[in-house]
Amino acid sequence: MSRSDDQGSRSRGSEHDAGSLAGASLPPDFGDRLLAWYRENGRDLPWRRTHDPYAILVSELMLQQTRVETVLDRYGRFLERFPDFETLAAGDVDEGLAEWSGLGYYRRARSLHALARAVVEQHGGNLPEDIDSLRALPGIGPYTAAAVASLCFGLPELAIDGNIARALCRLAAVEEDPKKSSVQRHLRELASEQLAAHPAGDFNQALMELGARVCLPRSPRCKDCPVPDMCAARCLGIETRIPPTRRQPILEVREEALIVERDGRYFMVRGQRPGVLQDMWELPTLDSRLEHGSLNEYLCRQDWPFERGELLGEIQHGITDRRITCFIYRGRALAESPEFTVRESSEDAPQGSTRGTNRDGTPGEPAGPGAGIEAGWFTVGEIAALPLAASAQKAFARVVGVDLTRR
Ligand code: ADE
Repeated sequence: MSRSDDQGSRSRGSEHDAGSLAGASLPPDFGDRLLAWYRENGRDLPWRRTHDPYAILVSELMLQQTRVETVLDRYGRFLERFPDFETLAAGDVDEGLAEWSGLGYYRRARSLHALARAVVEQHGGNLPEDIDSLRALPGIGPYTAAAVASLCFGLPELAIDGNIARALCRLAAVEEDPKKSSVQRHLRELASEQLAAHPAGDFNQALMELGARVCLPRSPRCKDCPVPDMCAARCLGIETRIPPTRRQPILEVREEALIVERDGRYFMVRGQRPGVLQDMWELPTLDSRLEHGSLNEYLCRQDWPFERGELLGEIQHGITDRRITCFIYRGRALAESPEFTVRESSEDAPQGSTRGTNRDGTPGEPAGPGAGIEAGWFTVGEIAALPLAASAQKAFARVVGVDLTRR
């Protein structure tokens, strides 16, 4: 296939599947050309400038499901606060979560903390340098293990993420779902010879760069591609049919949140949506996926003595397949409720506490339906130091006018 192939010379509609790939390989100079392009055009990213396995592992975990631009905002600061496994393992998991604020998918932060503990306890604070020991660590899956093994230790492991799978499928004109294990097996087979002939870390990064910046999901930028003549999908004119679209409908979610202020403190909660935002502090929120009825009924079920006041604003937020519209209301204290006071700052509350204490030192309200939920009154300064859900950051910016993003 030559670079001069044009639309007219392409045959459309030929079905290539993983089966037809068996034994296939990429042209011998594929890797050389890809790497030359990467060295010239690859982005200068902080995790590409270091050889520190810890720093590289942190970047790989942050980059899972999160855009490079967002990670760039958080990465340096996270490493300043937690420069190595020992510091992270010795630190408080809440502080780790707080530094993760804004990156989403907070389970990764908790899992990184557990991983740091395992590395310190089992490996003296250094990542093991073989793939099986890496795989045995908590929170490390096949992709992360291969990425770390190749980027940190030069092991010939192919790290296939979604971007790389898409690029390889196009190179080989595989029209099947790249997630299928038979397809993954063939992609490995396809790239393995090239991987063995080049520095594995650079080869993986070059493929990542190609997938992230050129071989884009819907509109591949073939004009910027270093290997268009080696791409079977392009030569067949089927590049936009790969990967096959199986578009999940976007799920519309409605939330209603309450912002309650008293004497310069705001009422914040954590654990009200187990499995959704378990670790992060947020506003009392009715989530249409989890609860029925009105916001006032929800507040009543949680034993929070407030009611919905006027609408203060609306924010949109969302991840991958969810579009969330959150209406933010002012919260008013229920006139007939007794003095309701919970803990005043994050430092003095035990993890998992449900209710703090009243101002006179007597125990707070009993844990009712909200058992497992923490709640408290916090100043803006205290909120800025909490592990805070991105939606709460947005809500405060919109209706209170304060910027709680960590810088
Ligand atoms: N996504 C996953 N790993 C990456 C890396 N090392 N550089 C850029 N994007 C990535």
